[in-house]
Amino acid sequence: MLLVVGATGQLGSLIVRELARQGRPVRAMVRPPDLARDLVDAGAELVEGDLLRPETLDEALRGVRTVLATANAVAPVHRGDDDDALARGYASLIARARTAGVERFVYASVPETPLDDSVPMVRAKRVVERLLEDSGISYASVRMPPFTEIWLALAGSSIPLRGEARPTLARAYPFLRRFRRLTGTTVERHGVMVVPGPATTRNAFLSLHDAARIMTALVDVPDVRGPVDIGGPEVLTWTDVARIFADVLGRPVRVLPTPVRIYAAGQLALSRVAPSASAVLGLNRLIGTAETPWNTSEVSARLGVHGLRTAERILRDKAALPVGG
Ligand SMILES: NC(=O)c1ccc[n+]([C@@H]2O[C@H](COP(=O)([O-])OP(=O)(O)OC[C@H]3O[C@@H](n4cnc5c(N)ncnc54)[C@H](OP(=O)(O)O)[C@@H]3O)[C@@H](O)[C@H]2O)c1
Repeated sequence: MLLVVGATGQLGSLIVRELARQGRPVRAMVRPPDLARDLVDAGAELVEGDLLRPETLDEALRGVRTVLATANAVAPVHRGDDDDALARGYASLIARARTAGVERFVYASVPETPLDDSVPMVRAKRVVERLLEDSGISYASVRMPPFTEIWLALAGSSIPLRGEARPTLARAYPFLRRFRRLTGTTVERHGVMVVPGPATTRNAFLSLHDAARIMTALVDVPDVRGPVDIGGPEVLTWTDVARIFADVLGRPVRVLPTPVRIYAAGQLALSRVAPSASAVLGLNRLIGTAETPWNTSEVSARLGVHGLRTAERILRDKAALPVGG
């Protein structure tokens, strides 16, 4: 049995579907009131569980040999969800997984950067990686660059969200809702992409769908262990992304870079009054500062994951879908 922790998220639900598609027995850990009918229809068994309620985890782990975990607090919708609390929840999960006889743990993580300690979400990822390292369980921590469907949408477009089930950006998190209302379609309406940091920042953008394939492939390759950097098929600057949007839409699109110091100042100012909003600004600060200009095609080939989707292919496919589809 494989357990997905974070099964109601955008990546988590894709992993559930991918495992079910492969005909594997998959259990999706969910929190009420989400009924997760779509996951049941996809072939998953549901179990109620919450990382913040450790007493719920043993039942979720019963008979489980592999855990795939994507749960995170970047767009929190339940009271008490934050990065530090979640890291404590992961500590319980990992300890209980060990007792339950779990043999493999595949964890969704982010690349190492010089800002790790000042961005709560990344700091929590590093804590969980250390817990996994110390647990003795065979694990892979998949350090992924910005996801194409998320960050090209955050730059001001609704196109990357078309056809996506359970998008993170549609979670009922008020700060995100307000941000999307303000900036969600600046590319389509004004031909402007608003990005954190300089237009020259380079990233190996990765499709969430390919991330799901990579994480499920790691279940069966136990000799890929520890932290592993994974990227998409090409390295793009924001200027490259604007050119692709322009080609797909057939009209000019320009980049409006926003100075990283704005995010740093916002992160600091909100840290006491609105910690989750502060954490989001910290994440933008990170994206505006760090780069992921790497080629990891050897790793994906080793995992048997081929045909990673380019940003252009994703945008062209999605632009052909109906608006709101
Ligand atoms: N966005 C990027 O560009 C990027 C890049 C690299 C890596 N990553 C990582 O990739 C993963 C993305 O996952 P995603 O798209 O599925 O996330 P998501 O859409 O933000 O969903 C969050 C998930 O975490 C669950 N969760 C939060 N707190 C929980 C708790 N206390 N107990 C149990 N579940 C809890 C949520 O459950 P509820 O629905 O019940 O709240 C939901 O299933 C994350 O780990 C992220 O850090 C993201």
